[in-house]
Amino acid sequence: MFSNLDDYREAAKRFLPEFAFCYLEGGSEDGVTLRRNRAAFERITFEPKMMVDVTAVGTGTELCGKYAAWPAVVGPTGLNGLYRREAEESLARAAHRFGLPFVLSTASTSLLEDVRQCSDGELWLQLYVQRDRRIAEDMMARARGCGYSTLVLTVDTPVPGQRDHYARTGFKLPLRWTPRLLWDVVTHPRWTATVGIHGIPQLVNLARSAGLGANIEAQAAALGSQMDMSLEWHDIAWLRRHWQGKILIKGLLSVADAKRAAQHEADGVVLSNHGGRQLDGAPSAIEMLPHVVACMPRGFEVYIDGGVRRGSDIAKAVALGAKGTLLGRAPLYGLAAAGIDGAIAVLAQLNRELETCLRLLGCADINALTDAYLLGNCVSALEFE
Ligand code: GLV
Repeated sequence: MFSNLDDYREAAKRFLPEFAFCYLEGGSEDGVTLRRNRAAFERITFEPKMMVDVTAVGTGTELCGKYAAWPAVVGPTGLNGLYRREAEESLARAAHRFGLPFVLSTASTSLLEDVRQCSDGELWLQLYVQRDRRIAEDMMARARGCGYSTLVLTVDTPVPGQRDHYARTGFKLPLRWTPRLLWDVVTHPRWTATVGIHGIPQLVNLARSAGLGANIEAQAAALGSQMDMSLEWHDIAWLRRHWQGKILIKGLLSVADAKRAAQHEADGVVLSNHGGRQLDGAPSAIEMLPHVVACMPRGFEVYIDGGVRRGSDIAKAVALGAKGTLLGRAPLYGLAAAGIDGAIAVLAQLNRELETCLRLLGCADINALTDAYLLGNCVSALEFE
């Protein structure tokens, strides 16, 4: 019986070989930013209001112009097929069941067309741009053709962050079997029988747009040495020519960059340090959130991710002005622990926790949740000494 997200995390850890669990869980370098993501949420204190009728609470909102049942998005994570078969299909279905958008990563292990086939829900595409821009252009055209509505351009990954656990566990793409990796796999027979037996999942989505077929070396290069490090603000105009839907820029962490995104006519930003997996020493998104929101034009949507583990974390983000939160590891713990049922159970839990939090806060409608529900000093508490 799982009582909270930690139980799913523990079950995921038992099920997955160490290399896969570390890929899900790990941060870059010393994990300073990874820890900061949680620490920042823990420093925010609520100021609840009593004697308010909370018989019914409303969590519905609008994310990128479409109704969402609560202010959350199942966020883009790469290589999900390491955890379960048809992982992205499961995540998309789970998100749809809760009325939330699902963001498919460029580094997905299922085709965007296949994900569309199995869900009528709201689908967004996360984009990494390779040096050969035709790859991104093709992916955008494919996604548009299947009704993906929002593009999420990730800009914090000109190079991958230094992740020490890769060296420790021996995981890299393409995979080279070492005695350690083989031991890792044989000591996780449930994973081996259900996932590993089919081979290491491929970056099929990227491979299709790049015309790479099953060449895993070339697929890995497309996410490594072939990544376009020259992306600049004026490239949003290039995206606009290829994408008629909403565009969010993901991976910003400063007021100045968020302003630039607005000037270049993005529809919004996702403040993010990539789950503590890129620049170690970067601030957390939640601590930058109030500063960014204070400077943005009306209608410009500010999302955050990084460290959301409870419904109350979603409430804290909304109270500080976030339009919504992206969920990365949380649904993955559920997925790895118990497949689609686990992903659904985690989302159900977060949904329940959010409703409980609103009732305990004395806030009957999430759209009325502001920093009036936070203890006065909490923005300064977020300013780390
Ligand atoms: C991919 O985006 C990763 O952080 O591994």
